[in-house]
Amino acid sequence: MSVFDDPGLFGRLNAENYDGPDNPDPAAAVDFLADLAADGRVLELAIGTGRIALPLAARGPAVEGVEASPEMVAKLRAKPGGDAIPVAIGDMADVPVTGPYTMAYLVFNTLFNLVRAERQADCFRNVARVLEPGGAFVIETFVPDPADFDRDEQVQPWWVAEDSAAIRLHRYDRTAQTFLRQTVTFDAAGVHLHPFAMRYMWPDQIDEMAGRAGFRLAERYADWDRTPFGPDSTSHVSVYRLG
Ligand SMILES: C[S@@+](CC[C@H](N)C(=O)[O-])C[C@H]1O[C@@H](n2cnc3c(N)ncnc32)[C@H](O)[C@@H]1O
Repeated sequence: MSVFDDPGLFGRLNAENYDGPDNPDPAAAVDFLADLAADGRVLELAIGTGRIALPLAARGPAVEGVEASPEMVAKLRAKPGGDAIPVAIGDMADVPVTGPYTMAYLVFNTLFNLVRAERQADCFRNVARVLEPGGAFVIETFVPDPADFDRDEQVQPWWVAEDSAAIRLHRYDRTAQTFLRQTVTFDAAGVHLHPFAMRYMWPDQIDEMAGRAGFRLAERYADWDRTPFGPDSTSHVSVYRLG
């Protein structure tokens, strides 16, 4: 199956090593989401190994999740408190739960893991279906930088060691706003391919998609510490409200 049509691929390739030092500290995101959720029932789309969900649940909200990868959920289940979080295995574009929730959230650029525009739109529409009136949908993504895709194909050295090395190759489709990335590792066992794809969007495009699903932008910051969002911001945290 193509990387563009396989929601379980990320977890199969990454679950084993996902919880590592390279992942961002969840503290600021958890503070932000806990303030907004109060003691409500909340839904994390693409809950993964519980990086956000577990510390958030410890703050009071009743957290549930949707996740495509059983491998990621197995890692969540193995952590203290991980068994107490209900998770529906499925595609976050379908939001295969009923709610109602006071808040849903989709963080760490994961909206872009839906690599087709129609599936991103499905996701917004289905989140609207399971939120209470006035409910919040919180999105965190990077802001695309056109300098990253000034050429359709790009090569980056990734790391170099004495017994191995890796490069990253990107192929951009600037019309579809997608990229395919191959992280290629060379070591004594051979050459290993690690594919990944995204469909990136600019914040105003996300606003438009959200608007078509019945959401309005209520708050936007450059990060979880509520740094004001501006033209030079490289990421955004956006709170959409229903109605
Ligand atoms: C970067 S991780 C984020 C995990 C978690 N939200 C966090 O912040 O640590 C992306 C997650 O999205 C999941 N995922 C990717 N596509 C998905 C889809 N279509 N439906 C549900 N989950 C998906 C992956 O399995 C993975 O757990």
